[in-house]
Order: sequence, then structure tokens, then C-alpha cells
Amino acid sequence: MKEQVLHLLKKQQSEFVSGELICKNLGVSRTAVWKHIQALRAEGYEIVSQPRAGYRLAGVPDRLYPQEILSGLKTEFMGRRIFYFAQAPSTNVLARELALAGAPDGALVVAEEQTGGRGRLGRGWFSPAGKGIWCSLILYPPVNPAAAPPLTMLTAVAVARAVRLVAGLAPGIKWPNDLLLEGKKICGILTEMSAEMERINYLIIGTGINVNIENFPGEIANAATSLKACAGRTVSRVELLQAYLQEMEQLYRIWIKEGFAPVLKLWKDLCVTLQRPVRVSSLKESIEGWAEDVDEEGNLVLRLADGTVRHITAGEVSLRPF
Ligand code: BTN
Repeated sequence: MKEQVLHLLKKQQSEFVSGELICKNLGVSRTAVWKHIQALRAEGYEIVSQPRAGYRLAGVPDRLYPQEILSGLKTEFMGRRIFYFAQAPSTNVLARELALAGAPDGALVVAEEQTGGRGRLGRGWFSPAGKGIWCSLILYPPVNPAAAPPLTMLTAVAVARAVRLVAGLAPGIKWPNDLLLEGKKICGILTEMSAEMERINYLIIGTGINVNIENFPGEIANAATSLKACAGRTVSRVELLQAYLQEMEQLYRIWIKEGFAPVLKLWKDLCVTLQRPVRVSSLKESIEGWAEDVDEEGNLVLRLADGTVRHITAGEVSLRPF
């Protein structure tokens, strides 16, 4: 009901909507309408009320509320069910619990702030309140678990395309799935999977996008930047999240229907770490070589100084100077 009141106010844009019209449309009393208006105000919506004229929406809060994301979202299943948290330890952890409890395919877990954001290789992820998109998608892809790893690369393509559409910036992808602008990271992706031999139970794709962060603490400042810093303006988190979900659904459908090849082609066009010397570090080792290509499964094809070729499944790429 609260969402319907909001919808009526939005439809009128900055015009007044009479209390009577809202009552009639929704079949509720004036007191009920007033309560919903108060609830919306408590969420940060600026609603002006004027005797005889009614109510006018004067401002929408910068929040990733489900009603904001869903309004105008053009997807069939991606992000159609949203679990919203003002604060969460980690959306990936919550997404896992929700998947086990039967959350639908494409469900989105989103938090304004993470207190224990998790990154790759056991690192943390800086996730300040209201400044980024910290979210996780729950998916049940009907593929063999061995075919799932490219989904992380697909996600990087989806984010890159959304950033281009909404912020007008062109991030590059650092193998396998970091997004860079001006040589610094603006997005990281952490995929977690539960599977049996032949079937995936659930897959969680956690995405952290540094949207409007102005200051990064300590060491992170050297390695990370934000869309706001690069674009020189605040970027709408709602619009960016909607664009990401739309791109994601489109690419996911292509992947399920046609396999990874068409998505890999898009990924390669955006990649900035091929045909150059790199160092790849993993928990086990650190090796240097020439990043020759990426094979059809998304592994990095690395040519070592002695001419041998290695296909690397996971790791962190550093570009020269090391
Ligand atoms: C990386 O280290 O590059 C991956 C970072 C992934 C961060 C996102 S933020 C939303 C989701 N929840 C988490 O705890 N991590 C991922």
C-alpha cells in the first residue's frame, strides 16, 4: 500500500495529488493515507503537504530501496525479488542463507553498508554506508558445476556495460574480473558456489561497486577509486544497479543458450591485461610471463620466459611495473 501511495505521487511528478484522489484510488481512509505518508517520510522521502492541495513528492532519498530499484526495472527474473538491508555483515553470507531457505532464481540481496564485506583471496572489502553498490545475486544455473566459473567474467562484462551506460565511463577488465578506471579498481566480484558432482545447488555472485566514495582509507587509496572520482559527479546508484541487473539478465540468457563463447568475445574486447607482461600471484605461487590470451574456459594463457605455456585458473594479476 505504501508503495502504491508512492507510485501515485511519482506519477504526478512535482504536482500535488489530492488526499481524496489517493483515498479513492486505493480504497482507504484519509488516516490510512496519512500513515503511509508518514512512513515514507521516515524512509527519507520528502513529501510536502498543503491544505486543500494534497501531497507533493519533493525529493527521493539516495537509498537502494526495493521500490526504487523495481520502479522501471526491465528484467524478467534478475532482481525481481529483493532483500534489502540498511546494514549487513556481508551480502554474500546473507545470500547463502537465503538460497538455502529457497530464495527464487535471480533474487538480489543488497545492503547500504557492510560491516564485514568479503573480498577475494580472503581479503576484506571496504563497504561504507550509502556510497556504493554492495549486492549479491542468487542464481541456480542449469549447467554442470564445471561450466560455472565463466559466470564471474560474465558479471564483469555486465558491470562494465552498466557503468558505460549510466556513468559514461569505460572501465577495463583486469583478468579475471576486476574492473579498473585510471589504473585503479572500481569493482570487485566474489562468486561462491554450492554444488554436487553434476548439479549446482546455488551460486552467489557478490558485486562491490565503488560508486560515490570520496575517501578510501590507508592502503586502499593506492589501489581503488570510485565512479564519482573519475566522472567528477555523483552517479545514481539506483540507475546503475538497474542497468547492471538488465545487462546481467541479457548476458546470462546468452550464456545459458549459446555457451560462453559470445560472452568471452565481449570480455576480451574490454580486457586490459592481454598482450603484455604480467605477474600472477595466487596463494600458492607468484609467476611472471606474457599474458598471451584467455582460453575458452576463461583461464589465463601465460607464456613464461622459457617458452612454456601455463593455463592459469585463479590468481591476482599485477601489471608492470611490479
Ligand atoms: C574482490 O576482492 O575483488 C571481490 C570483492 C567483492 C565484494 C562484494 S560487496 C558485495 C558482496 N558481499 C561481500 O561480502 N563481498 C561481495
